Amino acid sequence: MGANVKRLGTGVLVLLLFLVAWSLVAAQLDGLEGMEPPPDVAGMDCTMCHGDFAANFEYSHQPALDGQCVVCHLESGEEGHGGLVSEGRELCLTCHADYAGHNPLLTCWAASCHADVHGSNEDPLLNPSRQEEYPGFCEATAGAQYIGSGECLGCHCEYADWWKRSIHSLSDTDQDTPINRRGCEGCHGPGSNHWGRWAGIGYFEQASVEEADAVCFNCHRDEIYAADYMKTLHPLAGVACTTCHDPHFLENPSNLTMPANELCFSCHKTVRADFNKMSRHPVDNEDPRTGMLCTECHSPHGAEGSPMLKLPKDELCVSCHVDKAGPFVYDHIGYDPALGDGCLTCHSQHGSNSPNLLLMNGRGVCLQCHSDMASHGGAATCWTTGCHAEHHGSNANFFFFN
Ligand code: HEC
Ligand code: HEC
Ligand code: HEC
Ligand code: HEC
Ligand code: HEC
Ligand code: HEC
Ligand code: HEC
Ligand code: HEC
Ligand code: HEC
Ligand code: HEC
Ligand code: HEC
Ligand code: HEC
Repeated sequence: MGANVKRLGTGVLVLLLFLVAWSLVAAQLDGLEGMEPPPDVAGMDCTMCHGDFAANFEYSHQPALDGQCVVCHLESGEEGHGGLVSEGRELCLTCHADYAGHNPLLTCWAASCHADVHGSNEDPLLNPSRQEEYPGFCEATAGAQYIGSGECLGCHCEYADWWKRSIHSLSDTDQDTPINRRGCEGCHGPGSNHWGRWAGIGYFEQASVEEADAVCFNCHRDEIYAADYMKTLHPLAGVACTTCHDPHFLENPSNLTMPANELCFSCHKTVRADFNKMSRHPVDNEDPRTGMLCTECHSPHGAEGSPMLKLPKDELCVSCHVDKAGPFVYDHIGYDPALGDGCLTCHSQHGSNSPNLLLMNGRGVCLQCHSDMASHGGAATCWTTGCHAEHHGSNANFFFFN
């Protein structure tokens, strides 16, 4: 009984101590408002009065979180402590030297940028007011005037080197020319409403597939054959020109966002599995001497054949395998695409676990049609040991003997 009372007493004491401590902390959190800043706080722990506020955010700025307040703030000053070590960009560039070229005309903590320099719930340390309602890709530039790529590069100078190398700079002219000759603004829209704000410019991350494609079609209507392109499943499935192409990225040919085959594989996982099989077209590398590209058979922008094939199926296969093209003195009528699926009656287009990309092992491929020959010629395949080896078509023998 006595022990229990003692335990209860300790509990109440702990609770009381906690409440007292908490009221002190709470006083620190909102108690400074309206107070005079002490002129000198050298050597003092800033969090003693200001609290540990950098910790209250989802993304805290490391030096503030670590309590290195004095790398940015002065410990004393005529108008009180707390002034900035430097009012300019140097304050940040001492540590972030690699950002020297990033929006050099602005102070890093200018209103719509990294204004919450101690911490923010917006990555990277952005002022939530940046998330102001974006009016939409097209509406953002409505009624604006063209200002010319030179102006854009004044602030976005990190793109200057890219722009010199980009083929798109061909569209840059200073004359008063139509929309399709406007440099940066040919894609991003006229910029006079923008001037460094997040809004007021065509921001592709906010564009729908139709809006993004429409921008590219302004200039690329002819060579892309808009009609063919719009028939492919890609635009319907939410794949935009800018999914595959990033005009700002010059590392891959045609400004592709990834090396060509990797790009296709990034979405077509089941097709990737086909190309891992024993027999396959060599898309495992993009070296033109030993490998091949998906786009040697498929046109990424749609074409004559379906699905997105550069040529109708049978013309496609024999465009490379010319020895199978015929016509032969003795054509194998069964290979005529009009009667079946042409080459694909027996072959897989991508990969197979049977040799020679065959859809099945052994004589099965022939028995698809010649079922009456099931017991003809024993266990061998129909084309081995000099039998019907010329079955793709022969100029010498009616029975396609070798
Ligand atoms: C003894 C308490 C105390 C300590 C310790 C203290 N400050 Fe302050 N600080 C204040 C008070 C009080 C104000 C004025 C409150 C206000 O303006 O809202 C203030 C204001 C500031 C301001 C705002 C100045 C302005 O012009 O708006 C900054 C920045 C600042 N302190 C930084 C620091 C840093 C960095 C440290 C540590 C080196 C520190 N403080 C240590 C009490 C303290
Ligand atoms: C990376 C540089 C940097 C560090 C580190 C830093 N600050 Fe600041 N601080 C700034 C800048 C920049 C401003 C904004 C000044 C302005 O808006 O004019 C600011 C403003 C302030 C203010 C006044 C405005 C506000 O947000 O209420 C206080 C108080 C303050 N800092 C306290 C601190 C304390 C305490 C620490 C350490 C825990 C700290 N700062 C660490 C750069 C820094
Ligand atoms: C004392 C060195 C130091 C100073 C000065 C400094 N920073 Fe930082 N900053 C860091 C460190 C360390 C990180 C965390 C590691 C990183 O992401 O590089 C960081 C991260 C950041 C990030 C987040 C980066 C990201 O990719 O998420 C931003 C934004 C940032 N700092 C802006 C500023 C701004 C604005 C200033 C000037 C007001 C400034 N920094 C001054 C050291 C510093
Ligand atoms: C051929 C069209 C085209 C041209 C010309 C063009 N851009 Fe872009 N820009 C884009 C696309 C598409 C994106 C989105 C890229 C992505 O998806 O990552 C983009 C993104 C951007 C971004 C945002 C980057 C980010 O991190 O979100 C900026 C800033 C930008 N462009 C500035 C410029 C400037 C400045 C110029 C001229 C020097 C220019 N652009 C010329 C198409 C273009
Ligand atoms: C006065 C400086 C300034 C000028 C001039 C300027 N920009 Fe910007 N631009 C910025 C700043 C700052 C941002 C927002 C911060 C950021 O994300 O980089 C921005 C954002 C953008 C964005 C959106 C990307 C994003 O991250 O929000 C695009 C696209 C863009 N600018 C393109 C252009 C184009 C095209 C021009 C020329 C017509 C241009 N800018 C002129 C400073 C400028
Ligand atoms: C203002 C006109 C214009 C706009 C808008 C435009 N382009 Fe271009 N694009 C060109 C010109 C000019 C070339 C140079 C080759 C040519 O004459 O076709 C080119 C070339 C290209 C190339 C080939 C690059 C290379 O290095 O071989 C790609 C890929 C491309 N554009 C993609 C796009 C995409 C994606 C868009 C939409 C985001 C777009 N373009 C918007 C004018 C434009
Ligand atoms: C599924 C990915 C994909 C999409 C979507 C796509 N492209 Fe391409 N594009 C490619 C590939 C891959 C190439 C490389 C050339 C090739 O092998 O045919 C290319 C080449 C190009 C070229 C270089 C000239 C040429 O025809 O070879 C231009 C210009 C181009 N694309 C513009 C566009 C435009 C504009 C759109 C949207 C209407 C678009 N692309 C949509 C993948 C794509
Ligand atoms: C961003 C994802 C993505 C990328 C990258 C992509 N595709 Fe597609 N592709 C799709 C989607 C989604 C469909 C719609 C049908 C489906 O789900 O397979 C499709 C459909 C197709 C079809 C037509 C299938 C049919 O049944 O008609 C072909 C062929 C094709 N893609 C080839 C390619 C090639 C070649 C590339 C590389 C140049 C490529 N794709 C890149 C997502 C992608
Ligand atoms: C040797 C030519 C060739 C190559 C190389 C090739 N394809 Fe195909 N692909 C075809 C043919 C032919 C068809 C149509 C098959 C049919 O209709 O039965 C097809 C069909 C497709 C289809 C739709 C049906 C399915 O199998 O899912 C997709 C998606 C596709 N290919 C993607 C790709 C991708 C991705 C690559 C590169 C990794 C690639 N293809 C390489 C010839 C090729
Ligand atoms: C762009 C050229 C090209 C096209 C189009 C093409 N092929 Fe091929 N094909 C190749 C190459 C390259 C090889 C590999 C040759 C080698 O390994 O020596 C190959 C190999 C083959 C093989 C032998 C596979 C093996 O395991 O030895 C068969 C069977 C084949 N292709 C059938 C087809 C069929 C069916 C089509 C039409 C759907 C087709 N090819 C379209 C280039 C092509
Ligand atoms: C009736 C089934 C069948 C049809 C249809 C067929 N093939 Fe074959 N193909 C075979 C068989 C079986 C082999 C393996 C034995 C051989 O002939 O060497 C083969 C092998 C091949 C080879 C690899 C060996 C070589 O001879 O180069 C290629 C390439 C090839 N076929 C292409 C084609 C093309 C292109 C077509 C369409 C014009 C086609 N095949 C139609 C059954 C067929
Ligand atoms: C798509 C159906 C089809 C497939 C698969 C097929 N054939 Fe035929 N084949 C025919 C047709 C149709 C004829 C000509 C009409 C006939 O049966 O007389 C023919 C003719 C022949 C002939 C000539 C003798 C004759 O009776 O006219 C030989 C030998 C032959 N095929 C062997 C093969 C071999 C070996 C294979 C497997 C590699 C094969 N065929 C696969 C449909 C096919």
